[in-house]
Amino acid sequence: MVTVTVCVGSSCHLKGARQVIERFNELLSRHKLGDRVTLKGSFCMERCGEGINWQIDDEPVSSTTGEEALRVFYERVLAPMGVRAGDGPGGPAGP
Ligand code: FES
Repeated sequence: MVTVTVCVGSSCHLKGARQVIERFNELLSRHKLGDRVTLKGSFCMERCGEGINWQIDDEPVSSTTGEEALRVFYERVLAPMGVRAGDGPGGPAGP
């Protein structure tokens, strides 16, 4: 089980953290990974200047854009579970 935690503090929210959570959630649903990945929100992670802040288990990740967050999510969370980038509509290679 992997836990992905996205900061929903005000700075990250303004940078698009909410949309990132929505996209992560959509991808987990599409690939039926809801029982393998827990998606959570968190208060400020005290790294506000670093972009959209989130974690994969205990490892901090900072993404300058939502697109970058999605790319890392594919590489670090979905790919190890057998999902290839671009699988299904809306992936990085999708529309
Ligand atoms: S609001 Fe996200 S790290 Fe501070």
